[in-house]
Amino acid sequence: MSRADSSASSVLDRVLVLEMVRVTEAAAIAASKWIGRGDNDAADAAAVEAMRMALNELPLCGTVVIGEGERDEAPMLYIGEKVGCEQSDGPKIDIALDPLEGTTLTATAGPNALAVLAIAENGCLLNAPDTYMEKLAIGPGCPDGTIDLAKSPADNVRAIAAAKGVAPGDITACVLDRPRHEAIIRELRALGCSVRLIPDGDVAGVIATSDPDTGIDVYMGTGGAPEGVLAAAALRCVGGQMQGRLVFRNDDEIARARRWGIEDLERIYRLEDMAKGDCIFAATGVTDGSLLDGVHVRKGCTTTHSIVMRASTGTVRRVSTEYHDLMHRGL
Ligand code: FBP
Repeated sequence: MSRADSSASSVLDRVLVLEMVRVTEAAAIAASKWIGRGDNDAADAAAVEAMRMALNELPLCGTVVIGEGERDEAPMLYIGEKVGCEQSDGPKIDIALDPLEGTTLTATAGPNALAVLAIAENGCLLNAPDTYMEKLAIGPGCPDGTIDLAKSPADNVRAIAAAKGVAPGDITACVLDRPRHEAIIRELRALGCSVRLIPDGDVAGVIATSDPDTGIDVYMGTGGAPEGVLAAAALRCVGGQMQGRLVFRNDDEIARARRWGIEDLERIYRLEDMAKGDCIFAATGVTDGSLLDGVHVRKGCTTTHSIVMRASTGTVRRVSTEYHDLMHRGL
C-alpha cells in the first residue's frame, strides 16, 4: 500500500500537524539561547522545559514513549510521562521526542542541531530503550529489500548502486564520526565511496538520504536507539527504507531492553516495526544546517524554520515563523 493510500488516522487530527510545530519551535527557541556557550546541560534543560510546557497545553492524552530517559533519571519528559491537558478524554497519542537532538552541536555552534518530535496512535512507536542502535537507511526510489543490515556495508553499497544504476564508487554515505566506525569507513572507502562524516545528529543524517539535493545515498552506523525511532518516523513520512538493530554494551542495558518487552535482542527492526500506522514528524532547526536553518534573532524578531510531515498523506510542509517582540512593536 502506498503512503497516500493508507487511511489517515482519526486519532491524529490534522490540526495536530501545526500544533507539533509550535512544540518544536518552543524547544528550539529555548535551546538557541545557549548556542555556542559551551553548556550542553543548560541547552538541553532549556529545550526540555519549553517542550514539556508546550506539550502540556495541547488537547490530548499523550504518553512519552521515547523521551529523556527513565523516570528515575529524568525529571521531565521521562518515558511514561503523561503530557497534554486532556488526560481523561483527549486522543490517546504516543510521543517520541528529543527536545534537543545535538546538545554538543548547540554548545559548540555546530551544524544541524534540531528539536524533534514524532507522534503516532497509541502502540505504534517502538518503545526503544536508551541504548545504541545500528542503523542503515536509504531514501525513496529503490526496490523494497534493497538494504539488509545482516549484510556487510560493502554488499549494501553494491545493492544500492545496482538499484540506482551507478557504480559503487558513485555512492555517498553519511556516517557519524566516531572511532567505532573506523572499519565501516575503511570498507566504504575501499569501494571508492564518498564518506560524509558528521560530528553528531544522526536524525538529520538519516533524513538527508531522502533529499536528493544532499547527495547522500545511504546512512550507516551506530547511534542512539531513541534517535533511530525518531528517524524512522520521519522516513515513514517521506518514504525510504531503514533497518535498525539494538546494540547493548552491558547487562544493565539488556535488562533495560527486557523491561520494555524486548525479547529477541538480535532482532532487525524494519521501518514499520519502529513506526507504524499514521504518524506525524516535526523538527525545528536550532543551529543552521543542511536540513533546516536555525533560530535567528534580528531586530526584535525571532525566526524559526521547521519541517512537519505526515505519513498517511505524504505531505511535507516547511514552516517559517516570525515571532515579533511585543516590546519592539510598542505593545
Ligand atoms: P545528543 O543530542 O543526545 O547529544 O545526541 C546526539 C547524537 O549525535 C545523536 O544524533 C546520535 O544518535 C548519538 O548522539 C550518538 O551517540 P554518541 O555521541 O554516544 O556516539
